[in-house]
Amino acid sequence: MNRRSTDGRGPAIRPRVLLLSLAAGTALLASTMLVVPAANAAASTLGAAAAQSGRYFGAATSSFMFSNSQHTTILNREFNSIVAENEMKWDATEPQQNGFNFTGGDRLVAHARANGMSVRGHALVWHAQQPGWAQNLSGTALRNAMTNHITRVAGHFRGQIHSWDVVNEAFADGGGGGRRDSNLQRTGNDWIEVAFRTARAADPGAKLCYNDYNTDGINAKSTGIYNMVRDFKARGVPIDCVGFQSHLGTTLAGDYQANLQRFADLGVDVQITELDVAQGSNQASIYERVTRACLAVARCTGITVWGVRDSDSWRRNENPLLFDANGNKKAAYQSVLNALNSVSGPNPTTPPPTTTAPPPTGGGCTASVSLNSWNGGFVATVKVTAGNSAIRGWTVRVALPGGTAVTGTWNAQASGSGGTVNFANVSYNGQLGAGGNTEFGFQGTGTGPSGTPTCTAS
Ligand code: G3I
Repeated sequence: MNRRSTDGRGPAIRPRVLLLSLAAGTALLASTMLVVPAANAAASTLGAAAAQSGRYFGAATSSFMFSNSQHTTILNREFNSIVAENEMKWDATEPQQNGFNFTGGDRLVAHARANGMSVRGHALVWHAQQPGWAQNLSGTALRNAMTNHITRVAGHFRGQIHSWDVVNEAFADGGGGGRRDSNLQRTGNDWIEVAFRTARAADPGAKLCYNDYNTDGINAKSTGIYNMVRDFKARGVPIDCVGFQSHLGTTLAGDYQANLQRFADLGVDVQITELDVAQGSNQASIYERVTRACLAVARCTGITVWGVRDSDSWRRNENPLLFDANGNKKAAYQSVLNALNSVSGPNPTTPPPTTTAPPPTGGGCTASVSLNSWNGGFVATVKVTAGNSAIRGWTVRVALPGGTAVTGTWNAQASGSGGTVNFANVSYNGQLGAGGNTEFGFQGTGTGPSGTPTCTAS
């Protein structure tokens, strides 16, 4: 049962770093380090354990919490993704119309960068937590304000955000499976797709998610969202992921995993975005089952818990998180860590999202890199595009300048030596139709890749 009233680009970059060796296994390569998930070794933190299967494990936080050493010590030790609990919402980022404030969000992003974490963006448009001026708008004025907001905020954080919750909680509770009434909905039923198209234009590298609650099983609300996503995919509306908030009570729907899978089968990633579970005899078990469900769905790319310690939670009287108010690990923490450690190697069960026969070989591919770099580090997003024929798989060869180290990779398998790294497709993104594309990414220290990568199709 859901509990509710009213959230990486890169997975971990702190799994163990393995210096690649040459075939003889003796010559260490000075210039390139790759993060290689440790097979069969129990990781001791949530982020490192999730990274073993190429996933992230994140937490919601606020920049004002960074001065709390207990909170921040746990955050930095355990998590490799963060999301702003409030500081990237509309009321926080645009308190006056066209008057933007990115102070909190910038601090979160800087903290993430400094600590090797990816960032989820939450949330661009939502009926709640709108600034007063937006609450008072309607019609074309509100629609224009919405698109301006998305353009400016997603534009400001362009290249910094793994996934954006573009639209939050737009569906109604209560069994009809329809949209929630709101000032945004009253601007026209197309407001959600306009929001997604605007977000894509503002930050082409971010995954664009629809995010909602009470969707933790196959029910009328989740089916309404499912139908919207299916329609968006059919019409080419740019949606990449669906977030399942998962504010949970003392039971979990038996079809929780099946629900995730049916969305994944539409060709979107799924993410657990705001997980918290009421304290009770089932808390550890529910946390474990949610974690195992994500691990069992190849396109479930990560889990975010909605806070660090019970005392940080919006539901603090229900003690719903993984650490108690004193920062101690709870039984639920151990159950999640054990579940994450039970899986070794990327994408444990990787049924392709569709069951079509493999396409014939023979098509070519191209690759392009979009680079976000800062002093000492970078995130590279690589777009792989099939040529005139469908392809079964791809390998992208990237040249790295001396001194550059790759510290994390997502949606691809990295291998290589010296100043060249090869990134091969993983099981779910190798098959591309003619002209189709997919993206993978990597991050690291140094100046990032140079030149245009080469793509080889199989
Ligand atoms: O910052 C003001 C402060 O200046 C003021 O003095 C104080 C007085 O109430 O309010 C402060 O704002 C509060 C804000 O959190 C920051 O602490 C708001 O009142 C309070 O309503 C707000 O609550 C947040 C809530 O979203 C708003 O709907 C929670 O922290 C946050 O955990 C919660 O998160 C949502 C997700 O965004 C979407 N999914 C559900 C989830 C839980 O409701």
